[in-house]
Amino acid sequence: MSTTPRRRRIRHNPLLRLLDRLEREPVADPVIDAVRRGVRSLPLGRGRDVLHGRWLGHPAHPLMVQVPIGSWLSAAVLDLRPGRSREAGVLVGVGLAAAAPAALTGATDWAELHRQQMRVGLVHAMANTTATGLYAASFACRIKGRAGLGRAYGFLGLAAVSVGGLLGGHLAYRQASGANHAEEVPHVVSKGWHRIGAVEEFPAGEPVRRSVDDVPILVVREPGGALHALSERCSHLGGPLAEGTVVDGCVRCPWHGSGFRLSDGWNVRGPATAPQPAFDTRIVDGHVEVRLRRQDRGEDDANHDTDRTDTGRQRVEAGVDTAHG
Ligand code: FES
Repeated sequence: MSTTPRRRRIRHNPLLRLLDRLEREPVADPVIDAVRRGVRSLPLGRGRDVLHGRWLGHPAHPLMVQVPIGSWLSAAVLDLRPGRSREAGVLVGVGLAAAAPAALTGATDWAELHRQQMRVGLVHAMANTTATGLYAASFACRIKGRAGLGRAYGFLGLAAVSVGGLLGGHLAYRQASGANHAEEVPHVVSKGWHRIGAVEEFPAGEPVRRSVDDVPILVVREPGGALHALSERCSHLGGPLAEGTVVDGCVRCPWHGSGFRLSDGWNVRGPATAPQPAFDTRIVDGHVEVRLRRQDRGEDDANHDTDRTDTGRQRVEAGVDTAHG
């Protein structure tokens, strides 16, 4: 008799399997390409960054969906109580009024995602569009005095918007579509100065990739001699900034065009909503050294020695050169 223990088959959640298949399913790609072109061609100007949520520090879409979802959920609660159909109708109307701006924020974010994220995002948008249509029907029925049918459409709308929410959660958390892709950098890079190469390895005006503790670093030496160093993976979706373009003291991501100020990593242009972690720089014995610039003073004191310098304004110390190339 065999003594080998029988292996138990690991069963994956069928819902997760379905969502993973949706990410890989290319059937709707031509539609995605056409809609993406349409969204990108909207004449939004600087308003596009407002819709992305650059002013907020994270995508505005999750904030904007609070009103329609909250209103519609509250309407469903009122619909379960007798004699509250009128108030429920008002809430259905409020949700409808807030649906368009919420959809616009989502669409502008969606148009700057990876293919797999866009596939899930398209179905997310379809579920929410269906929900909006059902709530519009619910609202129309209530106005015509057909409260029973209005309630029925409302509950169907709630089911559709719940499917949209499920897909939105998958998109945001499992696929990290709205996350800051540079968040972990301050937790990974060890304290202190790190030597990353001889000064001659950094031609003026050209972005160069180096790494510190396996974290890719973008280094740019300006023609005037100032050295800048930022985390190299774009905070939007991890694009390679060292392959981007350097213009007017900023680097532009090659993937979706986010712009980051070289001096401090600030995101001057979306779709990125978070800045790039920045590094202090100095030149010692003809070699470039970088040190993560801590934002939190207490953390800075705890993690670093006291010889703090600012990027591009290196201190002249014993054995420390100024950053002129
Ligand atoms: S990865 Fe999207 S802008 Fe950089």
